[in-house]
Amino acid sequence: MCGITAAVGADDAVSRLLTGLENLEYRGYDSAGVAVANGNGVEVIKREGQVDELVDLLSSASVGGHVGLGHTRWSTHGPPTNANAHPHTDCSGELAVVHNGIIENHAELRDRLRGAGHTFTSDTDTEVVPHLVEEYLADGAGVEAAFRRAVADLSGSYAIALVHEDEDAVYATRQGSPLVFGVDEGTDPQSASPGATYYLASDVPAFLEFTDDVVYLEDGDVVRVAPDGYDITDPEGTAVERPVESVEWSPDDVEKGTFDHYMRKEIDEQPTAIAQAVRGRAEDGRVAFESLSDGAFADVERVQFVACGTSYHAALYGAQLLRDRGIPARVFLASEYATTAPPADDGTILVGVTQSGETADTLAALRRGRSEGLRTMAVTNVVGSTAARECDETVFIRAGPEIGVAATKTFSSQVVTLTLLAERIRRDVVGSHSETAPELLDALSELPSAVGSTLADSSAESVAERYGDSDAYFFIGRGTAHPVALEGALKLKEISYEHAEGFPAGELKHGPLALVTPNTPVFAVATGAHTEKLLGSIEEVSARGAPVIAVAPRSEQAVAEAADDVLWVPDSHPELVGLLANVQLQLLSYHTATLLDRPVDKPRNLAKSVTVE
Ligand code: AGP
Repeated sequence: MCGITAAVGADDAVSRLLTGLENLEYRGYDSAGVAVANGNGVEVIKREGQVDELVDLLSSASVGGHVGLGHTRWSTHGPPTNANAHPHTDCSGELAVVHNGIIENHAELRDRLRGAGHTFTSDTDTEVVPHLVEEYLADGAGVEAAFRRAVADLSGSYAIALVHEDEDAVYATRQGSPLVFGVDEGTDPQSASPGATYYLASDVPAFLEFTDDVVYLEDGDVVRVAPDGYDITDPEGTAVERPVESVEWSPDDVEKGTFDHYMRKEIDEQPTAIAQAVRGRAEDGRVAFESLSDGAFADVERVQFVACGTSYHAALYGAQLLRDRGIPARVFLASEYATTAPPADDGTILVGVTQSGETADTLAALRRGRSEGLRTMAVTNVVGSTAARECDETVFIRAGPEIGVAATKTFSSQVVTLTLLAERIRRDVVGSHSETAPELLDALSELPSAVGSTLADSSAESVAERYGDSDAYFFIGRGTAHPVALEGALKLKEISYEHAEGFPAGELKHGPLALVTPNTPVFAVATGAHTEKLLGSIEEVSARGAPVIAVAPRSEQAVAEAADDVLWVPDSHPELVGLLANVQLQLLSYHTATLLDRPVDKPRNLAKSVTVE
């Protein structure tokens, strides 16, 4: 999705903006640009393509200044072209605007502005904003008032930032799209430029190497940032207090280090991520979350989950564990829930599972639930995210920043957190943890080392090579292995562009079996539960000549013997084996994609954080 950056007060705003854009590349984009206000008007440099290409363009343009905006565009309205790239300007070129989100009433506004004599140069919804501001300036308003009046005309979701040639400042606002504000007060007198520098961005990693002090802006906030300070007001202009918070993520967390890809680094980080998710939450045989008091779930009669993509698969895993503990739980694709919500009542808790906390579909589903009076909870990775701020309660998965578009460590951290949550809900509702809790909590404490040995001993690379020339790839599993099969297929198709599908093993014979041939390998995920039935499914596909690759713990000898190849995982609690199997499937996807020379961290057409519905 689009990425916004702004830098105010830096000696060389352009270099800060470019760093920000590079750090936001993981969000997915197809064009990039910057605008700088430097006392000689507003200079805009932008183009379709990668940030590297923008850098080349800038090297021959000698653009400088202390105040500027940057943008990476992920096309929604109009194809990726130079003209559609942001920033967008008004007719006079006195001001420039960047935007993330969708302006729903853009067609109507465009008609109105065209009627008033404005000339449009792009297909974007965004371009109405600079022309609206221009219109209000012509009406006699100052820059701030014109910006506020323009924003008041918009409906939809947006984070917007603006520079005007008459002011050494950036104006910005948000409504339903992420925008964070970084504060570096520059108090170090030894520094070459001891003044304050401020940043605006769609996500904290954009400016994390410059400051870890962040203000999480709220919907409706309008911020004016100048080199000598900033103020934050509501849409009517009344000052609002927003605390400056320090983020715990370090700049190293958002660097690739010695790895070729963020995805590979993040796969490797899973032992640490899992340990962080469990830390302090499973002591003396009791599950406790820092944010939830004892008895917090006593009135819960059922759990509804909403999520998208990988988070949806993690939610399916968590719902299975809840049902196994006697708690009714169902999972809904957030985009469906937002439009066709199922019946719910006072005993329902609506849980949004979202790594970023900014996925528009998930936010819309949670808002729908809230509007009907449901209690809402966010299970998210990002402190200060919209989901965390809007829900009644939040549980953080503590995975650390995930940059690769393909979610890896956050799936594992979500599953671990939801495993703990299932036990925690069960204790409040039933009065005790499940019978399996002692073994499960022991296995959770061993899980980081089990993931470590899965990574160290994996033969996923040679399996990827062996089956690299297949027509399609199928993944099957039962129980908690079913979401793992779905996730294995999603990961493979997402980064390798190979056709892949996941099925509940029992459903194969009801249709998908027609697709199975000797050139469609089938990955069978075994957890130690439902083994006989999984063996039946393996026989069904073997009889059609399909190679079978078991993803199984050592104790599943029968499954291994029925398969042509095995991706082994360590024995663990049956409810956690699926997570270990998923690590093998992440590696399989990674190696398949690298063998095909795919851009693993930035797959085509995809964005890390999907902030439009
Ligand atoms: C995962 O690899 C995908 N990139 C995608 O499916 C993602 O999980 C989905 O967009 C949900 O994101 P969220 O967890 O940030 O809400």
